[in-house]
Amino acid sequence: MASVIDKPILINGKEVKNRILMPPLVCFNWADDDGFETVDRQRHYGLRAQGGTGLIVVEAAAVSKEGRLAASQLGIWKDEHIPQFAKIAQECHKHGAKVVVQLVHAGMKSVGDKVFVPSPIKTEENSKEYTPMTLEDIQKLKEDFINAAIRAQKAGLDGVEVHGAHSYLLNQFTSPLINKRDDLYGGTMENRFRLPLEIVQEIRKACGQDFIISYRFGVNDPTFAEDKHLAQQLEKLGVNILNVSNGIGIKNLEVPQDFPFSFITYMGVELRKAVNIPVACVFGIREPKEAEYLLEKDLIDMVAVGRALLADPNWTNKAIKGEAINLCYHCKPRCKYSVDGHTC
Ligand code: FNR
Repeated sequence: MASVIDKPILINGKEVKNRILMPPLVCFNWADDDGFETVDRQRHYGLRAQGGTGLIVVEAAAVSKEGRLAASQLGIWKDEHIPQFAKIAQECHKHGAKVVVQLVHAGMKSVGDKVFVPSPIKTEENSKEYTPMTLEDIQKLKEDFINAAIRAQKAGLDGVEVHGAHSYLLNQFTSPLINKRDDLYGGTMENRFRLPLEIVQEIRKACGQDFIISYRFGVNDPTFAEDKHLAQQLEKLGVNILNVSNGIGIKNLEVPQDFPFSFITYMGVELRKAVNIPVACVFGIREPKEAEYLLEKDLIDMVAVGRALLADPNWTNKAIKGEAINLCYHCKPRCKYSVDGHTC
């Protein structure tokens, strides 16, 4: 019997050959201080593409040097970075995978001494200097995202994923827990959502209709009702797939007792009901039968398999053929799996 995993899906009119998505997994210590890879990503992603993954989201790449979430992180803030993504695009396409790159600005979680934040934050003496963003800073940030997306397109990638989760800058803007601005970019829900929506809209304008725009969605900021509204606005303005994960807010929906996965996974399943674009859910999916459960019951469109794909690059092909996979141990805080002995 054909596997439920092995079923194509259209994302912005492009056929993704099956239902497994590799979520972004930043590999720390795999880049130099200027955003260039020091470990071969062509091979890293190529192996996962060869292993059958339908859609690969390349790890978070910083849209500006000051917005990095780690000192050794891939950069996409200058044209010289394009070739490292072109190699990844070529290799993934060679094996029939679609591939996008995640774009991030870490905001208050940026490395460095001076970091941008949506609004003033109380700081301890001798701690980092937080710089509330002016309207000019916001304009520059938007340009950084747009230019990064244009570079991704020049590299031959199928699209980008805008990082709106995990308490990085765009998530800091959407969350009233962090965003205390009293101008057009803060206060009401509409104002807090304005920045990611403008970015998505402008990427669509700059990169054309054909380009895939994914959004890493941080749920629960602050309520699921607001999440649904943001998801619908993102869809309206051109996002083609929601890759749902956690945000800043606290858990405020109960997971039904018979739902055998985490709260984060459940939020993806629930958010899918609010939109008409494909939605991917994530967290702790380790074995093929778990992905099959979600797909068979039509609870989700795509299943994101992260650490398990680091542990076994051939996870998808093996799942489709019903072969045993190399089991992931979900080590924390950072995955020890990788290729060729390089650890994350
Ligand atoms: C991550 N995650 C992550 N998320 C994201 O949006 N951008 C990123 O760059 C990263 N980087 C990253 C590195 C490492 C080593 C880990 C373990 C995780 C989160 C990741 O995409 C995924 O949501 C989680 O790993 C949960 O999925 P799994 O691993 O349980 O399938």
